[in-house]
Amino acid sequence: MVTAAPSRRKLVVGNWKMNGSVAANAALLDALKAASLGSAEVSVCVPAPYLRDVATSLANSAIAWGAQDCSAHASGAYTGEVSAAMLAELGCRHVIVGHSERRAMHGEGDRLVADKAAAALANGLVPIVCVGETLAEREANATENVVARQLGAVIDVLAARIDAVVVAYEPVWAIGTGKTATPSEAQAVHAFLRALLGKRGAASAAIRILYGGSVKADNATELFAAPDIDGGLIGGASLKAADFIAICRAAN
Ligand code: PGA
Repeated sequence: MVTAAPSRRKLVVGNWKMNGSVAANAALLDALKAASLGSAEVSVCVPAPYLRDVATSLANSAIAWGAQDCSAHASGAYTGEVSAAMLAELGCRHVIVGHSERRAMHGEGDRLVADKAAAALANGLVPIVCVGETLAEREANATENVVARQLGAVIDVLAARIDAVVVAYEPVWAIGTGKTATPSEAQAVHAFLRALLGKRGAASAAIRILYGGSVKADNATELFAAPDIDGGLIGGASLKAADFIAICRAAN
């Protein structure tokens, strides 16, 4: 069967992690708004306490915003948690779920990540579902097993709703380390994930799969040129206006 060439608009998402201040955020967003970012969809996922300020700042811009996590629960006695409905009320478009830092440091398992993705979708948010292997898993040739297990758990829970997610492949060994997967290493995993989505009945040619892990202004062009890499999830470099702007432009 001949399938039409996919037309996936590139997406570049800044993951600020636990960084920023009211003043620093305002300066960063002012710089982004003043820049021409090119044709990619651009979003910033910021710490929850800043969401209202960020929503106000970006309201009349082309830049979307989102959060870095949400609760799997709708409401109730979950001290410290933030619901997807709250994020939706603050105008979020995206929410990251299953980031490796949450899996590793907050004990989040595959099923919880899937439930968070479901909560996000139920509230009109686009979950950015993160998957990725550790260095030990890569060295044991377990990369495909690990990412298939992680994404498979989300497909199990979402079923046909999987078509509405964004997937982010973030090899744990490349996050914040300055070590980037080469474009061909990343492409191989992206192609594997897209094939898995297709086998599970998803509209895989339309689903965006982002790469994350030490994306910088000087490696973004090469990474984004790979056929199954549809943009990036950017940590450290999203905190520097000039770097993030260059990465957005590289996603044209
Ligand atoms: P990094 O982080 O770009 O700083 O490696 C990426 C991420 O964790 O999303």
